[in-house]
Amino acid sequence: MITEHENINRMNMVIRNICIDIMEGKEVPISDLYGIIDFIRNYADKHHHGKEEKYLFPKMIEKMGVIAEKLITNGMLVEHDLGRSHVMALEVSLKEYEKHPTPELKLDVITEAMGYAHLLQIHTEKESNVVYPFSEKNLSTEDFSDINEKSTEFENNQSQIGIQEKYLSFLKSMEEKYQR
Ligand SMILES: [Fe+2]
Ligand SMILES: [Fe+2]
Repeated sequence: MITEHENINRMNMVIRNICIDIMEGKEVPISDLYGIIDFIRNYADKHHHGKEEKYLFPKMIEKMGVIAEKLITNGMLVEHDLGRSHVMALEVSLKEYEKHPTPELKLDVITEAMGYAHLLQIHTEKESNVVYPFSEKNLSTEDFSDINEKSTEFENNQSQIGIQEKYLSFLKSMEEKYQR
């Protein structure tokens, strides 16, 4: 899960580099940004947040009481939803920009892309440094073997349809293309 945070943040760095390029006058790389939206939705959200929302968080809420429930419900889940709304707004801005390439729409693209990247950077740091260690301290070995068993099954299903391979190679290609 921590490695997935690192991968998500590698893509956040790509997004940042793309936004700087745009500010310096380069064309908005529309099809790459659609590819990044696909990465965010299927890797960062469905694959990574999926495991948190289906396996880890429910177990924390079930076993760790009110503090965990507040942290998850008012913190982590709200941030997952905020991320989704940035991505939806980014997609809308991109579609509009394709029809009317105005500076205002270009600004909307940068705003939503950076809004997402910034949010996810803070979110993943909070999980890696606070939420995951908190769960490690308070959940039992049995709780973790239950979470791991379900996660492994999910991972295997995802791997059979080539999800990890597809998105990690896309990440690598974007990193190579958008270095600064
Ligand atoms: Fe999360
Ligand atoms: Fe996470």
